[in-house]
Amino acid sequence: MKKLVVVAAIAGLMGSTAAFASADLAKAKNCLACHAVDKKMVGPAYKDVAAKYKGDKTAEAKLAEKIVKGGVGVWGQMPMPPNPQVSAAEAKTLAAWVLAQK
Ligand code: HEC
Repeated sequence: MKKLVVVAAIAGLMGSTAAFASADLAKAKNCLACHAVDKKMVGPAYKDVAAKYKGDKTAEAKLAEKIVKGGVGVWGQMPMPPNPQVSAAEAKTLAAWVLAQK
């Protein structure tokens, strides 16, 4: 019985898509308080961010760093505050997710 539960749990993990997991992560980390995927709020729409960095191979690392440290001046005068609750690995996941929005 125990074995079955473990197998089911693993199957469940593999079944959930990465995109869905990252949307949940963005929600959990409060990113969606300032961002939406397809409209500008306090911060730029994630779709617009993806379009801006399309074809830029360094974008994922750059954005992951900015997500943790915050920054200003790329989209306007409103700064993004640092997000110390986001680990480096989570920031990478979030950056990749943002860049995958269309
Ligand atoms: C308090 C509001 C706020 C929160 C919370 C916030 N952001 Fe931002 N974000 C902004 C603003 C404002 C900008 C535009 C900064 C600029 O112009 O350089 C921005 C920019 C960005 C960019 C584009 C950066 C660039 O240089 O082009 C990404 C990617 C991003 N945010 C992701 C996130 C993620 C992921 C989270 C959650 C961990 C998050 N943001 C939380 C306000 C916020």
